[in-house]
Amino acid sequence: MSNTRTINFGVIGAGAIGSIHARNIATRIAGANLVGVMDVNLEAAQKAAFGGAYATQDLDRLLGDPAIDAVLIASLTALHREHIQQATQAGKAIFCEKPVALDIHETRRVMQEVEEAKLPFQIGFQRRFDPGYAEVARLLRSGEMGKVEMFRSQSSDPKPAPEHYIASSGGIYIDSVIHDIDVARFMVGEITRVTALGRNPVDAVYDKYGDISISILTLEFENGAVGVIQNSRRTPHGYDLRCEVHCERGKLVTEDERETKLWRYDAHGIHGDYYYYFMQRFQDAYRIEAQAFVDGLLAGTPLQPNTHDAIESLRVAVAATKSLREARSVLITEV
Ligand SMILES: NC(=O)c1ccc[n+]([C@@H]2O[C@H](COP(=O)([O-])OP(=O)(O)OC[C@H]3O[C@@H](n4cnc5c(N)ncnc54)[C@H](O)[C@@H]3O)[C@@H](O)[C@H]2O)c1
Repeated sequence: MSNTRTINFGVIGAGAIGSIHARNIATRIAGANLVGVMDVNLEAAQKAAFGGAYATQDLDRLLGDPAIDAVLIASLTALHREHIQQATQAGKAIFCEKPVALDIHETRRVMQEVEEAKLPFQIGFQRRFDPGYAEVARLLRSGEMGKVEMFRSQSSDPKPAPEHYIASSGGIYIDSVIHDIDVARFMVGEITRVTALGRNPVDAVYDKYGDISISILTLEFENGAVGVIQNSRRTPHGYDLRCEVHCERGKLVTEDERETKLWRYDAHGIHGDYYYYFMQRFQDAYRIEAQAFVDGLLAGTPLQPNTHDAIESLRVAVAATKSLREARSVLITEV
């Protein structure tokens, strides 16, 4: 770490999410500075090289740059493992987009390497930093609501991701439902068993990759609570997201989906808009999670979600994938 009160960043992968992070680091995160952006696509790197950062196709240049304290890895999922390993060898603090790898054994191995190198690590489960989700978790921890009895989460994308992305994403549970799973673990606690049910009514592209486009996943928690996660790849009205936790003394719901905080009532009905995609819905959460990473590095305090969360949330997603394929309930201990 440099001796200044600034964390100098290199961003690896400047696609949809990498460019959001690069812009945040360059313009919206206190104590952070964007030094370089690396992407095999030079044009993408150049577009994301905000605030005078350099753009490069050369990973060795970025990782060998002594001015860089931390890397933010936002390359495609299939590349995270090798990028984490290279950043570990270079001794950089690491923020990595979810998931670390598609495979649980690989994930455990690479997380162990990071831990052994004693390098700070944070995984990109940004929902934990969304003000609504964070407040639900805080209230649950305070004990005011009593014991949690039921958890419910719904996330629906307006349309399928690009085919190149679907091809290497690992399927709906590992790529997408993992966010709901991480929230369930964050709010309620560890999960012991999952049962998945899925179909593909949305687009033949999912059949091509053995994937599905609608899913119901039921959860059993260690503390006796039960839960359900509902996902779809088609909500033409926009990104549709809500989370509800039913407790002994009431329930907590976070669900504000409107980009413009307005309802219009007229002769044709009641109208309001929606956030179209997660990029807009979680714009504040992406900033807040990166700020938490920087604040943790500067203060030398533990980061979260950490290597343990990267492993455990993936483990549940892998169990869900297994449950779907084998048409049975799967214990998390089987993974
Ligand atoms: N937390 C979230 O909400 C969230 C949202 C979207 C994506 N993601 C995660 O972020 C990652 C990237 O997703 P995306 O939607 O930005 O994908 P994307 O396809 O838009 O971007 C990926 C980028 O990686 C680049 N790339 C390819 N090979 C590379 C290499 N060898 N070295 C460096 N860069 C390389 C590509 O050129 C591209 O610019 C995925 O792992 C995904 O799971 C997380």
